[in-house]
Amino acid sequence: MRIAAYRRAHFNAAHRLYNPKWSDEKNDQVFGLCNNPNYHGHNYEMEVKVMGEVDPETGYLIDLKILKDLIKNEIENRFDHKNLNLDTEEFKTLIPTAENICYVIWKILRSHLDERYDLQVRLYETPRNFVEYPA
Ligand code: NI
Repeated sequence: MRIAAYRRAHFNAAHRLYNPKWSDEKNDQVFGLCNNPNYHGHNYEMEVKVMGEVDPETGYLIDLKILKDLIKNEIENRFDHKNLNLDTEEFKTLIPTAENICYVIWKILRSHLDERYDLQVRLYETPRNFVEYPA
């Protein structure tokens, strides 16, 4: 039986959307408030979706405690209460848009998850704005 399991988690982080190749005017035009030079924060919410076959011996798709710990150790500890631009390796040169953050989260979790699982990550930057990878 193929099924999906979800785990929700969140972290708070600051960011600035800024492309160093562009003038200040162009950054302002494209990124608006998210280009604030003094940074600003978001309450990021994520939904991690794991898909695959139920193990007939356990009745589990995945032990959700293991998924919870993986998200805590690899994502929350890395990004919670951080300035994404200044404090994290991942966004030293990559612009921390919701799209890029979602992809980075997926890539980190993917590298720790057994290949028998499919993985999808949804990231909410606000309650109404969210992205999903892979699409
Ligand atoms: Ni923002």
